Amino acid sequence: MMQKIMEIALKRSILIPSNELYSPVGGFYDYGPVGKALKRKLEDYWRNFFLKRDGCLEIETVYILPEAVLKASGHLSCFGDPVVECLKCKRKFRADHLLEEKGKVRCEGIKPEQLTQKLREKKVCCPECGGTLSEVGWFNLMFKTNIGPLEGTTGYIRPETAQGIFLDFQRVFRSHGSKLPLGIAQIGKSFRNEISPRQGLIRLREFSQMELEYFFNPNLPTHPKFKEVEKEKFRIYTREEQAKNSEKCIELTAREAVEKKIVPNQIMAYFMAREMLFYLKLGIPYDALRFRHMLPEETPHYSGGNVDLEVKTSFGWVEVIGNAYRTDYDLKSHSKSSGKDLSVLLEDGSKVIPHVVEPSFGVDRTILCILEHCYREGGGAERRDWEWFDFPAFLSPFETAVLPLMRKDRLDEKASEIADLLREKGFDVLYDETGSIGKRYARADEIGVAYCITADYETLKDDTVTVRFRNDGKQMREKTDKLPDKLHSFIEGNKLCLS
Ligand code: GAP
Repeated sequence: MMQKIMEIALKRSILIPSNELYSPVGGFYDYGPVGKALKRKLEDYWRNFFLKRDGCLEIETVYILPEAVLKASGHLSCFGDPVVECLKCKRKFRADHLLEEKGKVRCEGIKPEQLTQKLREKKVCCPECGGTLSEVGWFNLMFKTNIGPLEGTTGYIRPETAQGIFLDFQRVFRSHGSKLPLGIAQIGKSFRNEISPRQGLIRLREFSQMELEYFFNPNLPTHPKFKEVEKEKFRIYTREEQAKNSEKCIELTAREAVEKKIVPNQIMAYFMAREMLFYLKLGIPYDALRFRHMLPEETPHYSGGNVDLEVKTSFGWVEVIGNAYRTDYDLKSHSKSSGKDLSVLLEDGSKVIPHVVEPSFGVDRTILCILEHCYREGGGAERRDWEWFDFPAFLSPFETAVLPLMRKDRLDEKASEIADLLREKGFDVLYDETGSIGKRYARADEIGVAYCITADYETLKDDTVTVRFRNDGKQMREKTDKLPDKLHSFIEGNKLCLS
């Protein structure tokens, strides 16, 4: 399944392998025009859904951080993965993944020495050449660089967008009302020198995150809008079920999840309920979504609780969001290390270091899940024999494709005028005049265009066009001047079939 999706993604330039003209390096993908439009729409939707609606603030911070920052955050000492090298072919592998795949052993929280022992017990060899494996070592995932000329000083490219938010917290807090709670977010690239990048967009070395740090008074761990979502249901993969190796989930409301202490507070439950609604809107079905309560050995020592949102794919369950109750760990560490007081004054005159709940979304993994769950074959009025993407209308990379029936008799001129009109009204419009109309419908479907608009001979007489709905392939006629309003209302109502 995923192979097919990757084939279409490459064929239609949704994705492009980076540096393709040279020897490919794993873990890097470019987004072509279609993929970039999809990514932009996903990020904009996230902005509206999580930030604008709740008055959270968005910032943009730098990629390169001095060593002192990452020492304070703990990334310098702890941000790594266990690695083994094949003594024969010199290839390197994630030791825990190898043991999980070849030895069928769960590896959460296992130390390198124990991994070495288990790999030997299970007689795991190099999966490429069968050679003997080295002892397991520890590899820091950050890309190191030099800041300044010659050797300069050591810097690292950020492994998460979050640290920039902690560094800027005090200024943003002071310039925006000096009140808690306060949500500060960032959408941007993060970089991890993954040992074994794999599975398309799942494990990249350069990827995008949408992260929200919600700063709050630890004595008031509530969310002002919790009531709105307290009855929303979601599926939880509990620690008990994970221990049994079963796939069973329990279903709880947001309120129940807090009451049962699976979720540390209302704030995290609020975000979890909203995350469910968000992924459902993206076209991921309810049964393909679950929250996994992270095991104690996977949970950082400072954390007040971690719950990942996972999506079922043909690669298995994939983590798309890490929800973490980071407590006051980051602000406290930066405060100690920089010598600057990062506490804030409360209304009662007391001082406190704010606590943080962080939902951290992976953009690329989410795109991969959307591609898989929106992928369709055949169907529709034309009994199509092509594959297509059933993206929700608001997410369609191009909402419309404008097509002249033929490239003659002024039909192409008329179609270009219509395309310009729609572009002026803010639509993302694809103009396509090559090949038969059937082939053009197929090409539009393959990239998930929601509505195809065709200018034909009637258009020249009465200024009407046909509007073809992607999902059932049925068509209606509409006056050209009414098109923008009609299309807006179709997109708003996610109307993708005529009947
Ligand atoms: N600030 C917290 C943080 O970065 P994380 O669980 O390491 O937490 C959050 O990452 C999300 O970023 C993950 O759930 C995943 O969706 C995405 N992500 C992490 N590493 C990735 C990689 N190598 N390639 C693609 N996405 C990745």
